This record gives sequence, C-alpha cells and structure tokens, in this order.
Amino acid sequence: MSPHIAVLNGPNLNLLGEREPELYGRASLAEIEHATRERARELGVECSWIQTNHEGEFVEAIQGLKGHADGALINAAAFTHTSLAVRDALLAVRLPFVEVHLSNIFAREPERRRSLLADLAVGVVTGFGADSYRLGLAGLVGHLNALHVHQAPKR
Ligand code: DQA
Repeated sequence: MSPHIAVLNGPNLNLLGEREPELYGRASLAEIEHATRERARELGVECSWIQTNHEGEFVEAIQGLKGHADGALINAAAFTHTSLAVRDALLAVRLPFVEVHLSNIFAREPERRRSLLADLAVGVVTGFGADSYRLGLAGLVGHLNALHVHQAPKR
C-alpha cells in the first residue's frame, strides 16, 4: 500500500490567489492542491487534503491522523504563531510532519518569525510560494523512505 500523506491547511488559505498576492502569489489553493497531488503521484504516495478556518477543526484533523496517515504536510497559517492547542495535538499524535509556508516567515513581522510548531517538525520549507508544498512533500517522502530503510528487518 502506498504511504498516505495528509495535507492540512489553516485559516485564510482558502483565499489564496486573491489574498495579498504580492506575499502569497496568484495561485489558488485548488491550483496548489492540484500541483501537490501531481507531485504525490510522481513520488508514489497517496495524499488527502483539507483546509479549515477553525482552530478546533484543525486540532481534530491532527488528532484524526493517528493510525490513518504516515506523515503530514502542514501549513497552519496564523495558528503557526499562536496555537498551543495545535502544538499539543502534534505532540499527542507524534506523526512526522513538514511545516510549510508560502511566504518566508523569517523575513516578516516579529510575531510571524516565531513558530510554535517548527521544533516538532522534520523540517520547515518557507518562502518558495506554491512550490513550498511540492518541496516539502518531497522532503517528507525522502524522510519516510529513509526511516523505512532503517527500520527494515535485518537479514
Ligand atoms: C503563512 C504565513 C503565516 O504567517 C500567515 O498567517 C498565513 C500564511 C504562509 O503560508 O506564508 O496565513 O502560513
């Protein structure tokens, strides 16, 4: 069975394409989903996709990953900088994930330069626009493949 990667998108990402295009680019979330799914096919993984503007739904989506996903690609948007609840959910499920952002959060306002999630992540991809998703996915799949190789039973 192919590995399953869950892609989780936080608040206001449904407005991509029209929202601050100088920061986030002109691609809509549906276009980013399409490109990410194409990359997932090339990498031989299944992917699921959600977006929510609600913190509780985001937390529940993370809780629901246990036993259902092998890894996650997460753009928690503003929750990245504010949500201990999202951090706690990630600590609870202990699933390998890559944090992604379209903009370079480290080149922005001081309150965006801090991520409450990044130290739990396998890695962070930030600042490559829509490409951050494809790059993050490739990094995550590489990480999972390496884990798999290391965990394979020795003959
Ligand atoms: C974002 C960066 C966050 O600071 C912001 O709140 C977002 C989008 C990004 O992808 O660049 O909504 O996560």
